[in-house]
Amino acid sequence: MPDELPTAPPRDNIILIGFMGSGKSTVGRMLAKRLRFHFLDTDRLLEERSRMAIKVMFARYGEPYFRERETATLESLSGLRRHVLATGGGIVTQPCNVPLLRGLGWVVQLTADPAELYARVAKSTSRPLLQTENPKERIEAMVEERRPLYAAAAHFTVNSTGLAREQVVELILEEARAVFGWE
Ligand code: S3P
Repeated sequence: MPDELPTAPPRDNIILIGFMGSGKSTVGRMLAKRLRFHFLDTDRLLEERSRMAIKVMFARYGEPYFRERETATLESLSGLRRHVLATGGGIVTQPCNVPLLRGLGWVVQLTADPAELYARVAKSTSRPLLQTENPKERIEAMVEERRPLYAAAAHFTVNSTGLAREQVVELILEEARAVFGWE
């Protein structure tokens, strides 16, 4: 008997986590195409199911309600196979979501410097948490606050600062081949 059993490869889904503007949706779609996996985005799924935009949900019912719906969306995906899943930037703030994410598959964190994140989301009006007087400061504070949460949830991290999306996809694919034992 070997001392340690080999670690089983995770379920064949790739779960992308990371701050707003880290590229989860764009990279996720590209990754899914390359792997011939399906692509899903928890925010879009939640919006479709509730027939309401996230910013409307925040305004009408508040963030705690959104977080409940977000967890319910994640729970509903337990049978997923061969998917790339992009998640909302705050999904790691609810501790109960972390085992759900890791149970679903291989969790990849996308990071980028706050200045780059800001540049990517500066014009967005659909992100209620950034509709403040000083979104740049808000991003810096939230990135700091969430840093340990993303790190604890992730199996693998890619820092996309200064990289083209294609390069980010390649880095994930390279690691995925080893993790899943793909040829
Ligand atoms: C949020 C990120 C958003 C969305 C909601 C809350 C967050 O998703 O889920 O506005 O708390 O960081 P994106 O990361 O796709 O922008």
